[in-house]
Order: sequence, then C-alpha cells, then structure tokens
Amino acid sequence: MSTIGVKTVRSSYLSFDEDGRPDAASVTGFGRWCREHADRGEDLAVDLFAGAGGLSLGLEEAGWTVAASVDHYQAALETHRHNFGGLALDWDLGDEDVQKEFVDLFRKNDVTVDLVAGGPPCQPFSRAGRAKIRSLVDAGERAQIDPRKELWRGFLSVAQGLRPRAILMENVPDMGLGDDFEVIRRIAETLEEDGYETSINLANAWQFGVPQHRQRMILLARRDGKVMRWPDAQKPLKLRDVLGDLPNLNGGVGRRKMSYTTTPKTPFENLMREGSDGVLYDHMTRAVRNDDLEVFKRLKKGMLYSEIPRELRRYKVNSFTDKYHRLDVDGLSRSITAHIAKDGYWYIHPWEDRTLTVREAARIQTFPDRFRFAGTRSDAFKQIGNAVPPLLGKAAASALSKCLPERTTCGSTIAKEMLLKWGMRQAQGIFEPWFPGPRMTDLVALAMALQTRCYTSDENLCHAARPLLGRKTLTPELLQECVYAATTVGQKRQLGKLLRLCGPENRDQLDKMVDELGDAEREVFDLLKGKDVLMRRPAPVRAAARILGTDSDKRNRGTNGLVDLANLVGSGSAASIRVAALRLIGKDISRSGSQDSESCLLDDFRSFAEQELQNRAGERQLRLVAG
Ligand SMILES: C[S@@+](CC[C@H](N)C(=O)[O-])C[C@H]1O[C@@H](n2cnc3c(N)ncnc32)[C@H](O)[C@@H]1O
Repeated sequence: MSTIGVKTVRSSYLSFDEDGRPDAASVTGFGRWCREHADRGEDLAVDLFAGAGGLSLGLEEAGWTVAASVDHYQAALETHRHNFGGLALDWDLGDEDVQKEFVDLFRKNDVTVDLVAGGPPCQPFSRAGRAKIRSLVDAGERAQIDPRKELWRGFLSVAQGLRPRAILMENVPDMGLGDDFEVIRRIAETLEEDGYETSINLANAWQFGVPQHRQRMILLARRDGKVMRWPDAQKPLKLRDVLGDLPNLNGGVGRRKMSYTTTPKTPFENLMREGSDGVLYDHMTRAVRNDDLEVFKRLKKGMLYSEIPRELRRYKVNSFTDKYHRLDVDGLSRSITAHIAKDGYWYIHPWEDRTLTVREAARIQTFPDRFRFAGTRSDAFKQIGNAVPPLLGKAAASALSKCLPERTTCGSTIAKEMLLKWGMRQAQGIFEPWFPGPRMTDLVALAMALQTRCYTSDENLCHAARPLLGRKTLTPELLQECVYAATTVGQKRQLGKLLRLCGPENRDQLDKMVDELGDAEREVFDLLKGKDVLMRRPAPVRAAARILGTDSDKRNRGTNGLVDLANLVGSGSAASIRVAALRLIGKDISRSGSQDSESCLLDDFRSFAEQELQNRAGERQLRLVAG
C-alpha cells in the first residue's frame, strides 16, 4: 500500500509586525505606562508563565489590565505581544535573580499591582512516583530539587515580592490530586501566613461557558476581607452551537485567511465573532492520509479503536484504545491539550472527516476569532492546548473582584484555625492518644496504629492506649493494663502484638513492627508522629464537607471531597492535628447511624468555633460556614 501517505506540510511561520504596536510598554517606560493606566482607574495585573495569554484575556475581560507578562517561549511571546498591550518579557522565571529583577521593576517604578496571576507548569509527582524519586535521591542518583517541577516557587516568590491585593494560580488537577495537595497546600499556607484568605478550587470549565470537559485546579487568595464568589454555573454547550457557523472544508485543509460563509446563529458564535471584522483567520488543518480518511469515514462518536475494521488499523489495539476520537456534535469536546499539536486524532471534527482546524480548537478554548497565534500551525495548536480557556480565567478572576461583598461567614482559613484550636483542646482530654503531642512516643503511635481496624469507638481506642502515653519502653505490666482496658476481643488481640516489645530498650524490634504495618495503619502511625498525611478516607472527607457546608463527600468524594479536605488541613506542623480532628469528627458522624445525622463532636466543634469567633474583640462578626 504505497498510496496512503500524505507528505507532511509544515505550515509557514506567522509573525506580526511589531512596529507601532498599540499600547505597548517598554522596560524603560514601564513606570509611565503603569501610571497612565492607573490614573484612568484601571487595576493592574501581572500574568506569569503567560503563554499565548488565555488567562491574560480572561483577566482583561474580568476588568483588570495586564501590565506585564512573562514567558520563555518565542511564539507565545509574539502572540501575547500581538494581542495585548503592556510588557511581554522573555525572562526565565526559574531563575531566582530574574524573579527579583521582575519584582524590582515594579518597586523602582513605585507601581502597585492589584492581582498576580499565572499557571506555573508543574508536573507534580504521583504518589507512586514520589516514592521512587525519594529512593533515587537517597541513593544520590538524583538532585533533591528538580527545577522543572519547582517553577511554582518562582510564582510564589514574585507574588510575595509584589504583595498584591489578590492572587490567582492555575494548574492541572494533578497538581493537587496527584500529590495529596502537598505543593498547593504549602503555597496556600505560606500565603495565609502573609495575611491572605485562600481557597483551593477544582473548576469544571464547561460550567463557565467553555464547550469542553476540562478540569483545573485554581488557587485563589485575597487579603481585603471580601468573599471569593464564582459566577453561577451555566448549562453545558453543544459543539453544533459552537462550530456551526464556521465553513465546512469539504476535504480541503483550509487557509490562513478566508471569509465567513454564514451568519452566526447562537450566542456563543456571536460572542466568538466580536471584533473579527468579517475576516476568518487560521481555519486550517492538516491533510488527512488516505488510510486515516477511511477510518474517519467509519468513525462514529464513542467508537473504540478496537471497533475499527482490522485491515484499517495501524496501531496495536491493546496500546491504543482511543487512538481516534470523533467529537460529539451534541455534547462537549474532550479537553483540548497540547497533544493536539501532535496529530489531532483525539479531535476529529464532529461532522467532517478531518481533524480540527486551529480556529476550531481556539473556539473550543473560547479564544475569540479575532485572537491570532504566532508561529507555525503546530505552535498555534501548542499555545491553544496549553492555555487557560479565557472564559474560565474570567470566571476565576471575577471571584477576586473588588466589587464583591465583605465576608460574613468564615472561609476555610478561619475554619482551619478553629479546627486547630479545637484539636489541641481534644489533645488535652480523653482523645490525647489520637493527636500528635509531647507524650506521643513511637510506642503509643504503634499501639494506636495497630488498633485502627478494630471496630470500636475512638474513646475506647484511646482508653486502651492511654497507659502508654509518654512511654518509650514496654513492660508486661503496662501491656497488661492496656489489654485490660480494651473493650473488644479484636482490640485485645491487636494490642497483644505488642508483646514482642516487652523488655528493656527494644528499638530494633519496634522499628521492625512499624515497617510491617499495612498502608492504613502506617498512615495513622505517621499522622500521630506529626507527619503531613492528608488521609484520603471517607471519615475526614465527610467531616470537611460538613464543616465547609458542601456535599462533596456524597457527590465527588475523590475529587471535590479531597479539595475540601485539603482546604481545611493546610500544611506544616499543624496539618496533622487538623487531620486527626477531622478524622475524629468524621468517624463520629458515621457512628451516629445515618450519614445525615449530626454528631456530638461536630456539634461540639461548631459551638466551640462560634464561641471563639464571638470572643474575638474588635473583629468583624463572622459566622461559621455551615450550621
Ligand atoms: C501551561 S502554559 C501557560 C498558559 C497560559 N497561562 C495561558 O493561559 O495561555 C505554561 C507556560 O510556561 C512557560 N514557561 C515554562 N518554563 C518557563 C520559565 N522557566 N520561565 C518563563 N516561562 C516558562 C511555557 O513556555 C508555557 O508557555
């Protein structure tokens, strides 16, 4: 079969004329440029790791003026300069000196920034991956800090240096879900220490008018005491109402410039055409190979690669279950990622037998038709796939608007503080063995860990472990006391395992027993030893949802539920106390029978928090979120 190949045609590189660019700023004239805009009442923002400017566009549509953006990729910088005023700097934000220089640019010009935004490209380690990396670091085969994964530090350092009123950081969901929110919780904690209220969000782009399944992790922070309120969710769009007014290519590959052939019919199409002056740019795609064309013709939405006739398959069925994907004309697109720059097979047009054009991909990301992308066709696809959809950026930024009302219910930052105080109070009472603290020796933590799977109340578990508090060595008498205090046979059996430790200093045996703990038991041991463990279990997730007044534990426990948990747990040495407190409350909720019935501990926490908030002299009156 020699006729199938289509010669890959590299598209030309699109450059824009830089001369006379309207509203451009230069490094030397930056102060004057900012003053002119501030004098007009505009709030200034910066966009770090700005790429083509999907987020910048969202910020501008939400009312900010992007004074400066930074990236390190030539085509994206050209795109940004063409579509926005201000300063687009080709600087390496991984370099600490560059971060300082950027902050200095504002200091020496005496410019106040209202919003620092950006999406540092982080590939957080998956939990399995992290263990591997740790062993490589231990073996001296890898540097402790991998600079590619640490670009968030650059973002944080600039945000701290500029100290704006509000901060917005966008990232892939895996930034949180993949690593127990370790990095994002650390960033939030640092910002809270600097006086910000923070909120970690998992946003579904389609809820804000973006016609695709795309989830993003968005950290918001503000220090003006106002609420962080997202716009109301919209109904999902259908691709027929998004792409319907763009000309069919009827087997061709399209062009850089052409005319629209129909009038826009839907609100989305009208929105996309605003400012386009009747000219349609970049409606161009790749040529289709003959064999692919045969596949595309047979491909219906939802069809698997294995359903394609055997003689037309070029790839192994096992490795490529969804090599080709026909987009659903009556639904949302799959997430447009930078992968689209490769071959486009994941994005086969809903009704034509070809992959998407640059303009169609841009529309699905909600870039209006007037927005142009510098570089080759592949550069354009890459910038589009990497971007924050402008309408998602706009929704996130509007949650930080100055026009929102003062906060009257407490957000997660104050709820966290209350949880810590409440937890510390429990740690001085009957629940002491459930909290890290001065008397939590390895022996106590091990006894608690061994008992975790015993079906009895937390009070009973604590009661049995209490004789060990503050002890490092175990005597037969002490063990007997614990076993005697245990209420169930299972509990007595678990505690009996400690017999191996009886006798003088038995450190090696204790370490061995800790090593032998199962995953769930080990998690309890680590938590009680004060380590930063998120504990992704139903009980803490349930408690976090109740305290924040959401139903994430019932609907999306593995995603939004974990976000609620991360928002309440925070980071650093206090995190383990909060997790222990949430676990206690959560277990008490399930113990009280139906999932909806409230628990004594939850009630106790709520009245404690209400009382604390009332006692705060001189502070605005705040109520706890849920009650
Ligand atoms: C996910 S994209 C950001 C997309 C952008 N927020 C948007 O909405 O269009 C990440 C960007 O970070 C840029 N980048 C990566 N490393 C960088 C560095 N060390 N300094 C500056 N920019 C960098 C990349 O070139 C890329 O454009």
